[in-house]
Amino acid sequence: MATLQLEKITKSFGPIEVIKAVDLEVTNGEFIVFVGPSGCGKSTLLRMIAGLEEATSGTIRIDGEICNDKPPKERGIAMVFQSYALYPHKTAYQNMAFSLKLSRRPKAEIDARIRDAARILEMEHLLDRRPHQLSGGQRQRVAIGRAIVRHPKVFLFDEPLSNLDAALRVSMRREIARLHTDLQATMIYVTHDQVEAMTLADRIVVLEGGAVRQVGTPMELYHHPANLFVAGFIGSPRMNFVEGRIAHIRKGGVTVSTIDFDTVDVPLADTCCTRQGAAVTLGLRPEGFIVSATSDVGTAASVRLVEQLGDETLIEAMTAGGQSLVVKAAPSLNVAVGEPINLNMNPAELHLFDEAGQALPRASAKTG
Ligand SMILES: Nc1ncnc2c1ncn2[C@@H]1O[C@H](COP(=O)(O)OP(=O)(O)OP(=O)(O)O)[C@@H](O)[C@H]1O
Ligand SMILES: [Mg+2]
Repeated sequence: MATLQLEKITKSFGPIEVIKAVDLEVTNGEFIVFVGPSGCGKSTLLRMIAGLEEATSGTIRIDGEICNDKPPKERGIAMVFQSYALYPHKTAYQNMAFSLKLSRRPKAEIDARIRDAARILEMEHLLDRRPHQLSGGQRQRVAIGRAIVRHPKVFLFDEPLSNLDAALRVSMRREIARLHTDLQATMIYVTHDQVEAMTLADRIVVLEGGAVRQVGTPMELYHHPANLFVAGFIGSPRMNFVEGRIAHIRKGGVTVSTIDFDTVDVPLADTCCTRQGAAVTLGLRPEGFIVSATSDVGTAASVRLVEQLGDETLIEAMTAGGQSLVVKAAPSLNVAVGEPINLNMNPAELHLFDEAGQALPRASAKTG
């Protein structure tokens, strides 16, 4: 177990800077997830921590000790890859034993560590099999076992579940969560799967174009995204974005702010800190609406698409003002394409972003 600190880490390949001054403090035993679109630098950052790639500038500390110049095997890390990277002619046992043999551990200790890892991963019965005799999930378990036996200070995972089918991904995801609970180890996990990020992470690091856009707990990112990028990236179906303008009006002796949403002026719960007439982007999650077929208050819209998922219904709707929105409705709502619906938005669920895409302080009493 260990802490990890990244200070102003950059990485350039030739003239192109792919990692831009990344700062991060990881506490002992924390589960950190890196997410972001393809090519944003997740693997490069992980590989620099592992020592497989050299940082162009900045400092990497593991347990307080600068390790920029240490070779991977001296950093006390173990990495698990998407591709498993197992030796095809070795058994699961031999694959797990390999690095320990290289470091000349006593045979009895190697055996004890492998038995222990196999027990944790519930794969004692698979130890004599070669990779081709194992399923994808079982191979990935061997790859994780190979990391566990090394007793690393930090576990690094680069999209370890991407090659698995949907059902197996779910069960392996739970195994990794259980593994983290059992080992209490510091783990850094790269994925582009939102559900993995949300369910596994103590904190998520959202990257875009090599820069950190926000670091926070899954719920912080979900409820208080710092910018449009994070707001649009976290959450599925994604947040709806609508352009609007702030108006401050005097009402009963106090100033209240409203925002024009489609044809309706929505009062904000608190006075918004931005100036009169400021252009803002409203962000509304699909579940931030009350959808009805009958109500005559709210925004009128017509149904463009209905997706019934069983426990909920997703509706793509077009408002009278020409805004396309995706909203979540109760499965009991019975509407068909072309029919009218009414959308009432919950002001507490509203997010506001300025013209630079930065979140404005929430205009609501609910701070969660
Ligand atoms: N050896 C290299 N030489 C030049 N450019 C590279 C090299 N390795 C990575 N890059 C570039 O660095 C950027 C970040 O790549 P990286 O593999 O870290 O992205 P990623 O976030 O892991 O993407 P993915 O989700 O597709 O795995 C990309 O633009 C990539 O093309
Ligand atoms: Mg990658």
